[in-house]
Amino acid sequence: MKKRILLTGGAGYIGAHTAVELILQGYDILLIDDFSKSNKALLTGIEKITNKCPSFQEGDCKDSKFLESIFSKNKFDTVIHFAAYKSVKESVQEPLLYYDNNLRSMTELLRAMNNFAVNELIFSSSCTVYGQPDVIPVDETAPFKRAESPYGATKQMCERLLEDVVLAGEKLKVISLRYFNPIGAHPSALIGELPIGVPDNLVPYVTQTAAGLREKLTIFGDDYSTPDGSCLRDFIHVMDLAQAHVSAVEKIDSMPSRNEAFNLGTGEGVSVLGLARKFIEVTGVKLNYEVGPRRPGDIEKVYANPAKAKKLLGWQTKLTLETALADAWRWQKQLA
Ligand code: UD1
Repeated sequence: MKKRILLTGGAGYIGAHTAVELILQGYDILLIDDFSKSNKALLTGIEKITNKCPSFQEGDCKDSKFLESIFSKNKFDTVIHFAAYKSVKESVQEPLLYYDNNLRSMTELLRAMNNFAVNELIFSSSCTVYGQPDVIPVDETAPFKRAESPYGATKQMCERLLEDVVLAGEKLKVISLRYFNPIGAHPSALIGELPIGVPDNLVPYVTQTAAGLREKLTIFGDDYSTPDGSCLRDFIHVMDLAQAHVSAVEKIDSMPSRNEAFNLGTGEGVSVLGLARKFIEVTGVKLNYEVGPRRPGDIEKVYANPAKAKKLLGWQTKLTLETALADAWRWQKQLA
């Protein structure tokens, strides 16, 4: 019998791609989302790809009444908690909004899980928990440095909170998935990233510039101590990321401890300039870009050692940067 799974934030970028993979692999899922940062269009996309209308309820994870109604009407085996705010920039401007939303949705969810005896949680964490690591590629044993942003602090705090709740109880099992830089879209171009307003993230900015929606891309700094002077990141195709969630659902019962964290990345550092050039090469389109000053708060270089995920989740990335950029561009073209 396949597990029944609740996806909070299931209409978001990573939630929607994971929903597709879970549905196609025969899982029974329910998506919840408050649409504060997401769009109903992705639900239509999920339906078109899978030929199945995803079960869905609109509501906020901070709303205990809403969660109670969801948990009382459904018996879940596992929860995947995607729902969170994720803009580094906005979190600096509106720290209270971020601490309140990201922490309270987590505590309310844990309370509901406890009340209804749901004992498996997969949490969307981030490589941001490491800050600028001393050793690269970074592995899961690296210490958390002071977070560069309130957003990053909420991910650190949620991981700490989960550690404490696991220790205090006997049943809860947690997997925190530390995403590196998710990019790309479903190859069908029916779902993808839908940034609100001017994108902060690199790839949506690249595709919008190539589509003529933005005048030019600014590369934030070329004087870092990296091979070409621009920052280094680990860009992971969102479909690979989605597949990692399926592996986590399958393997959560056989983890060495009830609280485990995994890096989800390719293991390769790619520079920001390198990515811009690769985009031009892969798509053949013109991309207007120039080098500008550094962006405050940026980490110079971070990429994953993904060995633990390979060993314990049996997962590794399969898709290339070229595929991710081609898919991101296909998605952008049908939006424009
Ligand atoms: C950060 C977090 C990540 C989080 C994400 C959410 C770190 C290391 N990573 O990613 O965990 O999930 O925010 O938003 O803290 N860039 C440009 N020009 C642009 C946009 C970006 O040069 O117009 C550069 C940035 O300076 C950076 C790289 O591209 O070096 C990637 O930036 P971005 O896509 O915003 O992601 P991170 O900041 O790496």
